[in-house]
Amino acid sequence: MTQRTRPIKIIDYEGSSYKTDFWEGQGREFEDLTERNALRRLLPTSGSVLIEVGAGFGRLADLYDSFEQIVLVDYSMSLLEEAHRRFGDNPKYHFVAANVYSLPFADDLADVVVMIRVAHHLEAIDLALSEVHRVLQGGKIFLMEFANKRNAKAVVRFLLRKQSWNPFTEDPYEFVPLNFDFHPEWMRRQIENAGFIVERELAISHFRLPAVKRRFSPRFLAQIDNAIAAPASFLKLSPSLLTKNIANKPTRSSNGFFRCPRCYGHSLRQDERGYVCTTCKETWVIQDGIVDFRYPRPES
Ligand SMILES: C[S@@+](CC[C@H](N)C(=O)[O-])C[C@H]1O[C@@H](n2cnc3c(N)ncnc32)[C@H](O)[C@@H]1O
Repeated sequence: MTQRTRPIKIIDYEGSSYKTDFWEGQGREFEDLTERNALRRLLPTSGSVLIEVGAGFGRLADLYDSFEQIVLVDYSMSLLEEAHRRFGDNPKYHFVAANVYSLPFADDLADVVVMIRVAHHLEAIDLALSEVHRVLQGGKIFLMEFANKRNAKAVVRFLLRKQSWNPFTEDPYEFVPLNFDFHPEWMRRQIENAGFIVERELAISHFRLPAVKRRFSPRFLAQIDNAIAAPASFLKLSPSLLTKNIANKPTRSSNGFFRCPRCYGHSLRQDERGYVCTTCKETWVIQDGIVDFRYPRPES
């Protein structure tokens, strides 16, 4: 693990209108459909606990309905409130405000962890991957999407000298603060170093081009994208890659559900306000159906 000399920065989505600014009415039906198609291909048909990390407003959360317990995690309380408004009536869904770098779950809890459009915001991807590995059961599945630095557009622009940064070098490219594109080989090494076996890769979102999207329907483009996603993963020239990774560790049963993200204690007592850690005495409040396990606490 990399030695860190300063606190890890977390992107701030609190109070953002991500849903309306980025998705609704913004011409991204193709991207949404193609991510759904790819996820459907890689998700198991059922399971006991699925955790989506960085679930935002719950855009993809309807895909998990066949799981017994679905845990939507995000650092943004306001986005989770939107998710709660949509799924809060269904007792299978749980809403947890938490930091991917300090997940508040017991070891070996989940059958599946999903992380879509989150990796590109993580400056300490190694730490995030090791947390996901910890909370997954041995032999179980981690589905992660990430932004591909070596995509066709970047390669062509670089070769035509219209872009100064080199898409072939392996270091992450931070195009604006806390927004990274990753080289596929570099990311594969991070995933493997965290203790996963990369089982499958899908190259997706090839048609993320306004001229193409204007001409063809999102459904048609998503169908073609889905058909080429597996073979195209050999070239990896798409802007987005989705990987299916298996936690390479022994199968153990988990020691409870939550773990204190501050002291790592497993003994949490529930009272009328939320959860109290019996080891470090920290209180994690439940507010409008969302357990606030964010650690470090957000600056107010
Ligand atoms: C681009 S949005 C994607 C949301 C959702 N996965 C989707 O595809 O619609 C990125 C999300 O990651 C969350 N996020 C970023 N850093 C995080 C961290 N350190 N811990 C937990 N969530 C984080 C943000 O709050 C935001 O909701």
